[in-house]
Amino acid sequence: MDALRFNKIAAAVLCAGLLIMGFSKVGSFLVNPKDLKENAYPIEVANVDAKNTQVKEASVIEPIINLLASANIMEGEKVSKKCTACHVFVDGGNNKVGPGLYNIVNKPIGKADYGYSKAFAALNGNWTYEELNKFLYKPKEYVKGTKMNFAGLKKTKDRANLIAWLRERSNAPAPLPNK
Ligand code: HEC
Repeated sequence: MDALRFNKIAAAVLCAGLLIMGFSKVGSFLVNPKDLKENAYPIEVANVDAKNTQVKEASVIEPIINLLASANIMEGEKVSKKCTACHVFVDGGNNKVGPGLYNIVNKPIGKADYGYSKAFAALNGNWTYEELNKFLYKPKEYVKGTKMNFAGLKKTKDRANLIAWLRERSNAPAPLPNK
């Protein structure tokens, strides 16, 4: 092999080596995942605040205080048919699936002689007109974990009429609220 031929081969080998090195640099620059610190395309996630939707739901419950005086007791009695599978409304009435509800207006919540769910037994306060109103709108929302299996009364008129009827299931009906 003469010197020139050797030089040519050496140059070719060197060249090939440089090319390989060069390509591998470019390649790693192109695909190096370390450079991607964050998503190239950030995915927009709607910022849904669960709390907010609940607050909204709660504020949708219309008060019935101003409707009681002019409520339709007969209509209220019709609505009460939705309750009678589980509740008795007469004086001395037994518990059925749910507790007896005679005299329920202004009675302490969850304190009758009845086997309440834990969630219900832990409640405080009395069944004022507005507490009954909020409870009956959506019982499972008002008491998480209640065993009262009833969807609720979405119509404000139904709740007002029923609560006016409930008020009269008593030996001493609570006074109607002053407007
Ligand atoms: C499927 C059965 C069922 C139906 C229907 C039902 N309830 Fe109840 N109710 C219950 C049960 C069970 C409880 C006890 C809840 C607990 O312990 O978690 C209860 C509890 C109550 C309480 C609380 C009583 C207390 O002592 O604090 C009231 C008030 C009440 N119900 C009213 C009604 C009214 C008004 C209706 C009809 C619009 C109705 N319920 C429909 C089963 C029912």
